[in-house]
Amino acid sequence: MNAPDRPTDARATHSDPPLLFSPMRLRSLTARNRVVVSPMCQYASTEGGPTDFHLVHLGQFALGGAAIVFSEETAIEERGRKTWHCAGIYDDRHIPAYRRLTEFLSAHGAIAAIQIGHSGRKGAISPPWQRYRPLSPEDALAGEPPWPIVSSSALPDSPQAQTPHSLSTREIETLIGHWREAAQRALQAGYRILEVHSAHGYLLHQFLSPIANQRRDGYGGDLAGRMRLTLEVIEAVRAVWPDELPLFLRVSAVDGSNGRWTMDDTVALARAAYERGVDVVTTSSGGIHGPGTAAPVARVPGYHVPYAERVRCEVPGLHTLAVGLITEPAHAEEILQRGQADLIGLARELLWNPHWPAHAAQALGAPDHLDLLPRGYGWWLARREDIRRVTAQAAAQPASAAATPGDTASDGG
Ligand SMILES: Cc1cc2nc3c(=O)[nH]c(=O)nc-3n(C[C@H](O)[C@H](O)[C@H](O)COP(=O)(O)O)c2cc1C
Repeated sequence: MNAPDRPTDARATHSDPPLLFSPMRLRSLTARNRVVVSPMCQYASTEGGPTDFHLVHLGQFALGGAAIVFSEETAIEERGRKTWHCAGIYDDRHIPAYRRLTEFLSAHGAIAAIQIGHSGRKGAISPPWQRYRPLSPEDALAGEPPWPIVSSSALPDSPQAQTPHSLSTREIETLIGHWREAAQRALQAGYRILEVHSAHGYLLHQFLSPIANQRRDGYGGDLAGRMRLTLEVIEAVRAVWPDELPLFLRVSAVDGSNGRWTMDDTVALARAAYERGVDVVTTSSGGIHGPGTAAPVARVPGYHVPYAERVRCEVPGLHTLAVGLITEPAHAEEILQRGQADLIGLARELLWNPHWPAHAAQALGAPDHLDLLPRGYGWWLARREDIRRVTAQAAAQPASAAATPGDTASDGG
């Protein structure tokens, strides 16, 4: 299946309006700007399904003006969750609750996106605030027992972790079917962008990296063997994900410390993924050793941008999404203007300020920045801006010449 050409607008060189607030075409979809809410696990699901918390949590980002709002990593099978409270889409009964989320996001101008994944040997653990500790008999007494986990090889994630079962080729076939079914459920639930999670040391990354994958069959060994499962998953989901809808892939561009998955490998994977219909690659990093939050590259602003740039340069036609400590509007705009990425992902900054897109649009001088917010916010905030402008002018003028704020703007109704 051919991926569509990259739209030329992604290469625009003029800066009016800012590229960050220019629409972007992705297959049949038009993102209203380039701000993407990066997937963020919340450990707040009930039996895999989303709750009212997710509606409010994700909904706030749509109200804040983001173009694409990702639901967190969502497990394609029950044992592929990390914790008992991780999200899943492994049962048809999950569909209605996800549909409620997607309808809200779409009604507020955002594209509903979902990342699907499988924890593999990083499953059966506790949440981050309990340091991802492997579940134990004490957890079982509290009703949350460990469950058997799987991986490419029978190698534990850490000395304390459970040893995973090494998947047989027949089990891999079944597993690919679960990826396909999860994609179908996501579509039925109203998602319009699907991302395959192949990063952060989770199951697909456990096949990619020789650190975790010591198989001697066709799913291990050389680069082609280690990439095989990720590529077969892409083919399986692309076969059921409509042609007119975009498919994203998240990779760890490099492994964790002492990693053996390199940037050259990432470029090869991105090229093969593009040939199979992936539209956007998100370049993250790390996770093959220890927690997904372990830092293989220095955490400076835009720490993953060079990876996104290299993939974008070396795989013409493929879009990239840059994520990782991008917090300043001017920085986000510069990444786009320099052609280092096509989309900008934010995670923690949006937890701090869910209205970041509207604030960034104002900072970059985008026209109608308040239109990114609901009308019931924007109309009032426009009045408030008038009042503040008049007040500032009054403060700058001699007392006799100044108008009072009430002359030009109302602040209630
Ligand atoms: C609370 C939280 C949960 C996260 N969960 C996921 C996840 O489900 N899938 C994923 O690929 N990355 C996940 N990440 C990584 C983010 O998507 C993002 O790549 C990373 O935080 C760097 O971006 P930032 O500096 O803007 O936070 C998570 C990050 C945070 C802070």
